[in-house]
Amino acid sequence: METDNLILRRPRIEDLDDFLAYRNALESMKFQSIASISEDAAVSFLEKQEKIEPETAFGWIMFSIELKSESRMIGEVGIFIPEGGVQGDIGWSLQSRYQGRGHASEASRELLNYAFAVRKLHRLTANCDANNRASVRIMEKLGMRREGHFVKSQKRDGEWIDCYTYAILREEWRA
Ligand SMILES: CC(C)(COP(=O)(O)OP(=O)(O)OC[C@H]1O[C@@H](n2cnc3c(N)ncnc32)[C@H](O)[C@@H]1OP(=O)(O)O)[C@@H](O)C(=O)NCCC(=O)NCCS
Repeated sequence: METDNLILRRPRIEDLDDFLAYRNALESMKFQSIASISEDAAVSFLEKQEKIEPETAFGWIMFSIELKSESRMIGEVGIFIPEGGVQGDIGWSLQSRYQGRGHASEASRELLNYAFAVRKLHRLTANCDANNRASVRIMEKLGMRREGHFVKSQKRDGEWIDCYTYAILREEWRA
């Protein structure tokens, strides 16, 4: 898939360094409860993702975001579609030096096109830490509706945090 500045494509093993640059940047990933990943685990993850057939696959389907002007992977957008499901849960992450330039907004708009136009899904959700202002803004710009505010629902670094769930229906995206 292609936008003005980006290509969304299958991940490949050549993405390894760029993938690790954001996946293991724990300060940048502070709003997500994820542990760092080893290089071996990252290699097998990318190899598995490379083989996915995005028009029919289920599970986590990741797209590498390639910045056209630099021909390199700067981050990812992805969607989790449960086996046989017609709904999906979306997410995004960028290398910190490429953040704040509108790339995540541009990539996530295209992800919605994929989810609704290609996969014909009924509904998409996205979840985030209520303090993750950039993610909240992306969800709002995508036309998603805040459907849940879960107060002190996750514990991170010993503190309870609030989380939001946003959603959009296929007919809302079409309109
Ligand atoms: C979330 C993330 C992908 C956003 O990437 P990005 O490329 O900086 O996003 P964009 O440049 O498209 O900006 C999105 C919007 O958020 C706004 N924004 C960015 N940082 C912000 C902040 N700290 N506070 C408030 N708004 C912010 C931008 O101004 C923009 O809104 P606008 O178009 O109205 O100006 C990036 O911060 C990231 O990778 N974070 C780490 C991983 C993560 O938290 N992923 C999401 C898990 S739910």
